Amino acid sequence: MTIIAVANSKGGVGKSTLAVHLAAWLDKQGHRVTLADCDTQQSSSQWIREAAPQVKALCLRDPDDIINDLPMLAQDTDFVVADGPGSLAETSRALLLVADSAIVPCKASMLEIRALDAATKVLRQAQKIRSGMPRATIVLSMVGKNYRLTQDMHEAAALLKLPIARTFMTLRQIYADAPGQAAVVWKLGSRAREAAAEVDRLFHELLPEAVGGIRSDAMRRQPAVS
Ligand SMILES: Nc1ncnc2c1ncn2[C@@H]1O[C@H](COP(=O)(O)OP(=O)(O)OP(=O)(O)O)[C@@H](O)[C@H]1O
Ligand SMILES: [Mg+2]
Repeated sequence: MTIIAVANSKGGVGKSTLAVHLAAWLDKQGHRVTLADCDTQQSSSQWIREAAPQVKALCLRDPDDIINDLPMLAQDTDFVVADGPGSLAETSRALLLVADSAIVPCKASMLEIRALDAATKVLRQAQKIRSGMPRATIVLSMVGKNYRLTQDMHEAAALLKLPIARTFMTLRQIYADAPGQAAVVWKLGSRAREAAAEVDRLFHELLPEAVGGIRSDAMRRQPAVS
């Protein structure tokens, strides 16, 4: 089982939007998935229950519960996607102590990238204690249509020793509308086609090993031909 934490202690950067889409995408790839909603607002667990009811949804906020119970509660699943809180440093710390990898959504501006130093302090503490784990990647979120990643931002991210995913999540009304429609973007028809292609590309980039889970498992289980 792999635990993926979506974490950035800054609020409103797109954590829940990314976490719900990632959990539903992993489910679509044929994996057994748990979404651990570690935020007080519990918006992502409600959204996933409506958008992909076969994903197991848990609400876990207490740091002790995250460390002691999360691995056990999710033991029948292949992936846990944990939606981190906007504040609650102790909850984030607990999450990053059990996570195998972390995705750090960050709005695409120099100010936000600079704020990442403070917003990822807990992540770096965990990496220091755990010899570099969890591995983390920045995903730029709410990116304007004609945005180009500047050298300044590359350098700021490099100083934090965090790679930036090549695929961005663009600023699109359809992402903001999706929870109200109780759906993920690839269920929202032609209006959401570009968003659907973008998240699919992003998750292929972040988790190439998760693509087509059922097929590859089935192939692995096939008896060898003698
Ligand atoms: N790519 C996007 N384009 C347009 N709107 C977006 C996008 N991503 C997220 N939003 C909207 O921005 C707001 C904040 O997003 P979200 O709730 O995912 O952030 P968060 O980091 O989980 O916030 P919090 O820290 O409060 O939990 C929401 O209203 C959401 O619908
Ligand atoms: Mg949230």
